[in-house]
Amino acid sequence: MKIGIDKIGFYTPHLYVDMNKLAVARHVEPEKFTIGIGQSQMAVPPLTQDSVTLAANAALEILDEEDRNQIDLVIFGTESGIDHSKSAAVYVHHLLGINPHARSIEMKQACYSTTAAMQLAKGHIALHPEKKALVLASDIARYGLNTGGEATQGAGAVAIVISANPSIMELESESAYFTNDIMDFWRPVYSDTAFVDGKFSNEQYIAFFNQVWGQYKEQTGATLEDFEAICFHLPYTKMGLKALRTVLDETSEAVQERLLNHYQISTTYNRNVGNIYTGSLYLSLLSFLEQAQNLQAGTKIGLYSYGSGAVGEFFAGVLQPNFEQHVQRDKHEKLLANRKELSIAEYEEVFQQTLPTDGSTVELDINQDPAIICLAGVTENKRQYVNKNN
Ligand code: HMG
Repeated sequence: MKIGIDKIGFYTPHLYVDMNKLAVARHVEPEKFTIGIGQSQMAVPPLTQDSVTLAANAALEILDEEDRNQIDLVIFGTESGIDHSKSAAVYVHHLLGINPHARSIEMKQACYSTTAAMQLAKGHIALHPEKKALVLASDIARYGLNTGGEATQGAGAVAIVISANPSIMELESESAYFTNDIMDFWRPVYSDTAFVDGKFSNEQYIAFFNQVWGQYKEQTGATLEDFEAICFHLPYTKMGLKALRTVLDETSEAVQERLLNHYQISTTYNRNVGNIYTGSLYLSLLSFLEQAQNLQAGTKIGLYSYGSGAVGEFFAGVLQPNFEQHVQRDKHEKLLANRKELSIAEYEEVFQQTLPTDGSTVELDINQDPAIICLAGVTENKRQYVNKNN
């Protein structure tokens, strides 16, 4: 039985900054951010968007009534959750009107958790092929103003329906994964920004890629030639390229060229959104599915997932007939094109806005936010969400 991605949705906030302007404000050469890091724009979440609303908006565009009835598992991958106890999945389950006979949980392992969620969802569907699972990947990446990581922030969510006989991509069973306890990037529970050893994190990202790719080849006998493209977890778009380059000499010049061309296409949306942590690999996959020309059914795509701390995994998917009818290129291009640019001063102001932590009430102006699902305020330590369609 084939199991895999039946639907895929995406959402990012309506505000962004231009990386050229951020570079000027930070007294660095713009090319460092646009070429050296490989980012053109960076999504900025207003206070009315958090990891719950981003995920709910991403899922809202793909779910129909049949999905709402058939989904019996909601897994939320995030490292910017809003509660240490209650899972973000429960909020989204309610906001989207999914039937009550569902399991709803949150998972965490830095940027890797969504891949674990996908694999768990796959196992669940293998046991219950008539059901569907909703996997949500949603994050706000924050390092702080004027920090080394600032140019690699971002915000957004990807929502994926996993089912039997999927419309978009079958996920293959072979997979290579690896865990090692390292301190390359972490965020203690008392901090709302991440700590990072930037250079070490880059090295480890590549070392884990080499590890799981080597393991995958041993397990499956695969070579680079077997893949039309490899999509990477993209903390910034140069990162995957650095990893890809370390293995290119395994193959012919023609395959190298194909993988490099397709790598560029797979970074299209990420380049204008920034790091969305758990969703970044899947945003790269979405970029490739929606922006590549003439992809055929049967095409195999490699996927490299990395979550600091750290866990890495390499696995693959195979495109299904007419998959292109099940992605939403125009909608996602419009979502990005219709965003509002913030000046650097405005971005800094938005970045520093916070919600009360003393139980007091705040009401937010959701009319300024075009998203359908918004955070409308907080009262008695409870976030108040609104679905404008209800
Ligand atoms: P930095 O020290 O500001 O930058 O930190 P740099 O000096 O290393 O320069 C970056 C690149 O720009 C270099 O290219 C420069 O040569 C180039 P490279 O040599 O690396 O190919 N450059 C220029 N290029 C063109 N024209 C110019 C120019 N000037 C310089 N004029 C760093 C960069 C990424 C370390 C920093 O932003 C950071 O710490 N970011 C956060 C950590 C991160 O993203 N790590 C990635 C791997 S870990 C990961 O992916 C997991 C993560 O997503 C978290 C999770 O799992 O939850 C982060």
